[in-house]
Amino acid sequence: MTVDRIEYRHFRNIEEMTLVPDGGVNVIYGENAQGKTNLLEGIWLFSGLKSFRGAKDAELVQFGCPFGKLKLEFSTAARAQKAEITVEARRKAKLNGVELPSCAGLIGKCSAVVFSPTFLNIVKNGPEERRRFLDAAICQLKPSYAPLLTGYQRLIRQRNSLLKDVTMEPALLDMLDVIDERLAQAGEQITAERRRYLEQLIPAAKAIHDGFSGGREEMSAVYLVKDGNEDTPLRDILKQNRRNDIFNKTTSAGPHRDDLDIRINGISARSFGSQGQQRSCAVALKLGEAAVMKETTGEQPVVLLDDVMSELDAGRQDYILNHIKGWQVFITCCEPSTVLRMCSGRTFRIEGGKMVERAESGAEADRRCL
Ligand SMILES: Nc1ncnc2c1ncn2[C@@H]1O[C@H](COP(=O)(O)OP(=O)(O)O)[C@@H](O)[C@H]1O
Ligand SMILES: [Mg+2]
Repeated sequence: MTVDRIEYRHFRNIEEMTLVPDGGVNVIYGENAQGKTNLLEGIWLFSGLKSFRGAKDAELVQFGCPFGKLKLEFSTAARAQKAEITVEARRKAKLNGVELPSCAGLIGKCSAVVFSPTFLNIVKNGPEERRRFLDAAICQLKPSYAPLLTGYQRLIRQRNSLLKDVTMEPALLDMLDVIDERLAQAGEQITAERRRYLEQLIPAAKAIHDGFSGGREEMSAVYLVKDGNEDTPLRDILKQNRRNDIFNKTTSAGPHRDDLDIRINGISARSFGSQGQQRSCAVALKLGEAAVMKETTGEQPVVLLDDVMSELDAGRQDYILNHIKGWQVFITCCEPSTVLRMCSGRTFRIEGGKMVERAESGAEADRRCL
């Protein structure tokens, strides 16, 4: 899909702006804290997911304003479409003039992939970030996954509070049995969805990684079940951990504690990889996410590269841009020349939430001269 036009109104530090991007590369540049990431965040929200910065809805509205608004015109293979998001205390959305029950109704309609410097640490950081990556990617492909996750998290909270009370009130053990059964069911579904997704993601990431390493290093990944293995039902793990869980007043295993072990030549990249190897895996996972999205939906997602290019060497930058050739991409940076050396694109300079300069791309100038 491509973004044809986006209007911002009272969104973050952007009072009013209209962006008419190129169908290929768009470079958004300017000093720090001027609104570049805000601009990408606005595009991202049309994916139907929460802000990639973890912001609450109300934080998206410009300080001192009652509400903010985003209007998007986008094209998919099927047709040109319009979407609208209004943010007050919560977000509301419309698609082609029809009010949606919630913003989640936009999921799968206009898909996007976002890549920022924090993602470069996905291999090195704690398991929570790897789970969040998998979950967000699956949410965008499968609208039923987000409610499944929310339901599971609610059960975990209920179980943890029961674990606290059960020592005082042993009669609550029956209740714990009920919760465990529900938790096992929801948990198994989550694990199954994650495994299914990984069956697509890992080969895609591996192929990309082969491209970097010239096939000298082989990337793989294994889903790690906390306190069990692939074949242990969660029901049994919960049973086996119950005594300890009551003692510690917390649920020690389940998909909320699982992990993804990313490996190079069969060895954990987290424990033994160099920083360069870990970063290559991160780039491969992110481009893999985009590839799976295209494979699954038939539409290429919009790619948002937030400040990430300056963190990468020229080889990896080049690889990314080549890999997504022909896709629409929005790149934010402070210094546009590095990026523009590698590709032609439309550039936008942002200052204080305003677009202060817009330069046409080489290709556009060529078209005008014809
Ligand atoms: N709700 C808001 N209302 C007004 N300004 C905001 C809001 N949220 C963030 N900002 C401002 O936006 C700026 C940061 O924008 P950002 O897009 O992150 O900058 P950058 O250009 O570095 O990517 C900061 O100056 C911040 O104070
Ligand atoms: Mg930024």
